[in-house]
Amino acid sequence: MLLAQISDLHITPPGTLAYGRVDTAAFLARAIDALNALDPRPDAVLITGDLVDAGGIDEYRHLRTLLHRLAMPWRVLVGNHDDRAHLRTVFDDRPELATGDAFVQYAFDVADVRVIALDTLDPGSGAGRLCATRLAWLEAQLDASRERPVVIAMHHPPVACGIGFMDDIRLAPDDSRALDALVRRHPNVERIVCGHVHRAISVRFGGTVVWCAPSTAHQVALQLKPDGPEAFVMEPPAFGLHLWRADSGLVTHCMSVDQGGGPQPF
Ligand SMILES: [Fe+2]
Repeated sequence: MLLAQISDLHITPPGTLAYGRVDTAAFLARAIDALNALDPRPDAVLITGDLVDAGGIDEYRHLRTLLHRLAMPWRVLVGNHDDRAHLRTVFDDRPELATGDAFVQYAFDVADVRVIALDTLDPGSGAGRLCATRLAWLEAQLDASRERPVVIAMHHPPVACGIGFMDDIRLAPDDSRALDALVRRHPNVERIVCGHVHRAISVRFGGTVVWCAPSTAHQVALQLKPDGPEAFVMEPPAFGLHLWRADSGLVTHCMSVDQGGGPQPF
């Protein structure tokens, strides 16, 4: 089983740039080219939120035209820059959005692995929430998947990473503690995969491992202090590749979109 994860696409309306400088649509197109060229191809692509930059209908329409080129099945989940209603309006035919749930939460199988996608969006806030309703839904999903490897996907990481201004808008600490306790009771959770921090980060949590994916476009500046200015850098875009094998468990690779002219023979 090979599951690709791209994150934090921050698509803007056609012909515009994020922050007046970042051509997020062109970056996503390059990431899609890289994904489509993989051999073996991923079984599916999971997109862990901040699909668009400002939650606008015109942004989601633009995103839709871009994702059309992905050669494998894909699923979206929401981040703090997303708008559930506008997403549903434009992606009204998507199975993950037709659950009838108020939240964008769903589960699906990628070969042997059960992927459970959570909605951590708290409209009006950059930070994330997992309220009692969402946690109860997760608990039911986990209880129904005890015999299989599980990957939980959510935009906001439930941990601090040391970058102060991002830690201020992570998943709410009380909700993170509740999630920690819940996941601890389900040791078949192989990984919690997140976005939001625009960097590759791994942390132990809840008896499993949290892994955050970089953005397909701009990355958050690595300032390991509480008071660094909110800033991004143009480090190379990258994505996650989660490889499941029964004998090795889940192995997470982080692959740069730009392969620097390789592969070349040694
Ligand atoms: Fe983001």
